[in-house]
Amino acid sequence: MATAVYPGSFDPVTLGHLDIIERSAKMMDHVIIGVLKNYSKTPLFSAQERVNMLKSITAHLDNVEVQSFGGLLVDFVHMNHADLIIRGLRAVSDFEYELQVAQANRVIATDIDTIFLTTNIKYSYLSSSIVKEVAAFGGNINEFLPPSVADQVRKKLSEQKG
Ligand code: PNS
Repeated sequence: MATAVYPGSFDPVTLGHLDIIERSAKMMDHVIIGVLKNYSKTPLFSAQERVNMLKSITAHLDNVEVQSFGGLLVDFVHMNHADLIIRGLRAVSDFEYELQVAQANRVIATDIDTIFLTTNIKYSYLSSSIVKEVAAFGGNINEFLPPSVADQVRKKLSEQKG
């Protein structure tokens, strides 16, 4: 048993992410969800909004906390005295990039391992980018997101349209 960091952009958090979080919470003593503050793409939601959405949908999980972070993931892991990084793998196409990042992280922080959980098959196609694209064109996103998150995506897009 250990403390794990589950990092991501979570813009927005999907049911696929939530599935990984719930399964990680069963395996670990403690799970810290690390929400990346500044990533290269312009996010739909601010870091604080993403943190709040994650806090709300993980309120039923006693051993899960949510924080935002900037800079290197391994520094965030060290700062929280965590042991592991958790990443989800949806398909072989994810593997090459995830392996490269995990190996780079292991070179810069030899004490931190990354473990991979296979995404639940029913969410294997799902990504935050797909959700945003479907939502932007007025499609139904209810199958992809927790209900409160789907509401916030619709609200944010309608605010943006003005
Ligand atoms: O949800 P995402 O966008 O796939 O998450 C990517 C994330 C946040 C895990 C990754 O971009 C990250 O760790 N960023 C922090 C900077 C860093 O440490 N990069 C890895 C060094 S190779």
